[in-house]
Amino acid sequence: MTAAPILEVRDLHKSYGGTSVLKGLDFEVTKGAVLGITGQNGAGKTTLLNIISGLISGTGTVRFEGKPVGGLAPHELARRGIARTFQAATAFPDLTVRENVFCGSYFGSSMGRDEAWDHAARMLDFVGELKGKEDLKPGSFRLFDLRMVMLAIALATRPRLLMLDEPAGGLTPAETEVFMGLIRRINQELGVTIILVEHLMKVIMGLCDELMILHNGNILVSGVPAEVAQDQRVIDVYLGAEH
Ligand SMILES: Nc1ncnc2c1ncn2[C@@H]1O[C@H](COP(=O)(O)OP(=O)(O)O)[C@@H](O)[C@H]1O
Ligand SMILES: [Mg+2]
Repeated sequence: MTAAPILEVRDLHKSYGGTSVLKGLDFEVTKGAVLGITGQNGAGKTTLLNIISGLISGTGTVRFEGKPVGGLAPHELARRGIARTFQAATAFPDLTVRENVFCGSYFGSSMGRDEAWDHAARMLDFVGELKGKEDLKPGSFRLFDLRMVMLAIALATRPRLLMLDEPAGGLTPAETEVFMGLIRRINQELGVTIILVEHLMKVIMGLCDELMILHNGNILVSGVPAEVAQDQRVIDVYLGAEH
């Protein structure tokens, strides 16, 4: 792993009306790392991902691979190498799984049509869990399969940074294990840097190289996961509230 940050966030603020939701975040994501972000509901985690992925605007600076990317639209950011999944599992219900993933590779990257179909097939193979379902429409898929479709769409854009918003929420323990294995392979085999917003400590501890705790729009503590989890401020504010 090199020390070069793939993403730099400086003095990032976001307010809704008079309410300050992000209060000046400063952090970097190391290229090749898995950064975990956790914190209570309403801490600002999804808002942060929404700003980095261009869905909403904030004030401050976001640099990706050394270049400012604030103000770019989501599809432009996808083409530059930033992909994400959403807390609510969604896919195009009227397209087949294969067509859904093609949308990622065709519209989210600069691949031509044939290459985009090939790449979509490769990513479906890589994810593996949708074998035999490639030509079905995901409208009635169970949560785990929908999450797999959403992940395959994101991977199809050929991201160098992938942001996952609570990907294990609502999954069974066995499904969570499968998902964790997949995230590890995306990081290690595809070399994708990952920001993982997650509540489950088991998932965070099993996957993350770095951990950041968001609390009321501020970074409460960040660092090596095992140390962050032992930090008294975290125990008081975050874990303390749940136990
Ligand atoms: N569109 C919005 N308008 C007003 N307030 C919002 C909006 N989106 C989020 N918020 C508020 O911002 C805060 C952070 O929300 P969010 O980023 O979704 O938190 P998290 O993902 O950590 O649970 C919450 O208090 C939420 O109510
Ligand atoms: Mg959220």
